[in-house]
Amino acid sequence: MKAILMRSLPQWLTITVLAIMVIPAIVVERPYAEAEKSEKTTSADDEKQTPEAVTSEGSSNLFLVYSVNNVGYIDVCGCKRKKVRQGSLTRRASYVKQARFHHDNLCLLDGGNTLFGPDDGKAKDFEKRQLHEKAKLIVESYNRMGYQAMLVGHHDITMGLEKLREYQGMAKFPFISANMRFKDDSSRVFDPTTILDCDGLKVGVLGLTIDTIPEYYLNRANPERPLHLTSALEEAKALVPELRKQCDILILLSANSTETNRQIATEVGGIDLIVDPYIELGNHKVWVDEELSMEQVGETLLVRTDAQGARLGTLDIDWIENGRPMVSLSFDSVPPAGRSTYWYERASMEPHLLEDPDIVALVEAFRKGSAFVNTEELPELPHKGKYLTASTCAMCHVEQTEFWKGTTHADAFASLVETGDQWRQDCIACHVLGYGQAFIAPEDAEPFKDVQCENCHGLNPNHPQDPVNHPWGKVKETSCLVCHNKDQTRTDFIFSKERRKVACPPLKRN
Ligand code: HEC
Ligand code: HEC
Ligand code: HEC
Ligand code: HEC
Repeated sequence: MKAILMRSLPQWLTITVLAIMVIPAIVVERPYAEAEKSEKTTSADDEKQTPEAVTSEGSSNLFLVYSVNNVGYIDVCGCKRKKVRQGSLTRRASYVKQARFHHDNLCLLDGGNTLFGPDDGKAKDFEKRQLHEKAKLIVESYNRMGYQAMLVGHHDITMGLEKLREYQGMAKFPFISANMRFKDDSSRVFDPTTILDCDGLKVGVLGLTIDTIPEYYLNRANPERPLHLTSALEEAKALVPELRKQCDILILLSANSTETNRQIATEVGGIDLIVDPYIELGNHKVWVDEELSMEQVGETLLVRTDAQGARLGTLDIDWIENGRPMVSLSFDSVPPAGRSTYWYERASMEPHLLEDPDIVALVEAFRKGSAFVNTEELPELPHKGKYLTASTCAMCHVEQTEFWKGTTHADAFASLVETGDQWRQDCIACHVLGYGQAFIAPEDAEPFKDVQCENCHGLNPNHPQDPVNHPWGKVKETSCLVCHNKDQTRTDFIFSKERRKVACPPLKRN
């Protein structure tokens, strides 16, 4: 029965193509997954090989693609046009399209902590609308890319369960978590697992949220009916045996510490793959070095990848029934007979991927709508008067001001304007002075644009009246790291070296 269905699939797709030509309205609702496949059938006849022909006797192929720790990113990580320019949903969508063209059986998963980042919990009320719009943009992009499951990570409930339900309602793929439960009756908030039919291969996916989240955080997410998280290890023990029976490949999306994930791999048999976000000492790693990108623990392979959508993990799997555990083709060039194999690689989201026009349109719409708010709702800014701004300093420090104008700090706002990102709460703070302290609304921003004197020197409002008795301390490394940190810049920031490029000329004293 399965074989008949599979053989008749191309015919069905041809019918789909015809249908698309006749009723173009259908296409709009169709995720890329299907649209791509139908395109393929039109050119399939000549060179195209069936999966059976590519893989060895009796095996089926699965191309697994996963992202993890997207932490609310939609663009090239942090900053555009820097040397290592990776990431963005627009490139990811274009990559997935290409990958579908080369692989008949692609499975696309997200390992959680997707919609919001670690700092978004501190967002002020006036910033929340933007965060909300961005989360919706991410979900809609995932729909169009054809994502098949997403783990709910603890950052995903940053805006509360109610909002998350709204995103879940939009999503054409399941949100899963086996251990997120309501405190009162211990019922699950999301489905614990999902079983995907990937061209006949059954892929079982189990989701586990990090189980060490403080109580207050969970209470805040849904005050009316507080949440709690049960032990990831215990849930895995309880659920894996049953899921194992129902699927061929068993994948665990577990946004738990690497230590916990190793423990699960050791104590719970039957898991083929764990997508591990590499959480150590409470923080996920933004950049994962090559040698740490995977780890074999018993029968289970732990795989990782960079955060912020910079690189996707991919496994090209040749699955043989009863061929567990899988062996790596990269390590064993001649795999043992009868064993399933995989080829592991990370795909870097770099400029050669171009940008998917549909997702570009979504991002553009988000940018246009990002101007802050309803100014009436803005909070009081008690520190507004403490900022003197560069124009004040310029009156007495002509030479230093001229020097500063020659650095790119003085054009930092223009860099945002160039791409229309200047009013985004996830960009502006590092490209201006005193965002959220001295100003919020665009109409008040003028004097605070660019990285200015007080970004480095600090605040010292009484200095002009009496410079001698109100001196400034030395500029410290910590004032640079607010902006030049590892989340933003892939390359190490070496203070002594970078300082020389921006240190203003000394005062000429008598
Ligand atoms: C408020 C955020 C912020 C702070 C604080 C900050 N920078 Fe920058 N820095 C930036 C931004 C943004 C740019 C890129 C500007 C652009 O091209 O638009 C930049 C660019 C630079 C560059 C390249 C300059 C050039 O002209 O090529 C250097 C070097 C640099 N920063 C060093 C430092 C040092 C050293 C410190 C601390 C003493 C520091 N920055 C503090 C945000 C900051
Ligand atoms: C945490 C602080 C921070 C945030 C947030 C931030 N930037 Fe930057 N940005 C920097 C720093 C530091 C640099 C300069 C060093 C570098 O190139 O990485 C920079 C440089 C840039 C540049 C100039 C790069 C070049 O090489 O000319 C652009 C454009 C830019 N950022 C855009 C953005 C956009 C768009 C966002 C929001 C999505 C953003 N930035 C968010 C700190 C930040
Ligand atoms: C009214 C003129 C005036 C203004 C405005 C002014 N300064 Fe100064 N500044 C001085 C004088 C005079 C000195 C030298 C004080 C001394 O000899 O001890 C000085 C010294 C400094 C020094 C050297 C370190 C120190 O404290 O001795 C720094 C850094 C500095 N100013 C930064 C700034 C910055 C940043 C601004 C703007 C926020 C600013 N100044 C605004 C007059 C001014
Ligand atoms: C990117 C960081 C940065 C920015 C922006 C910056 N400065 Fe500086 N400035 C330095 C550093 C570093 C020194 C060297 C002295 C030190 O380390 O404290 C310095 C030195 C100075 C001095 C001389 C201090 C002395 O003891 O001789 C003055 C005055 C000064 N800056 C004023 C300004 C003014 C005015 C502006 C804005 C127009 C400005 N700075 C912008 C980093 C910065």
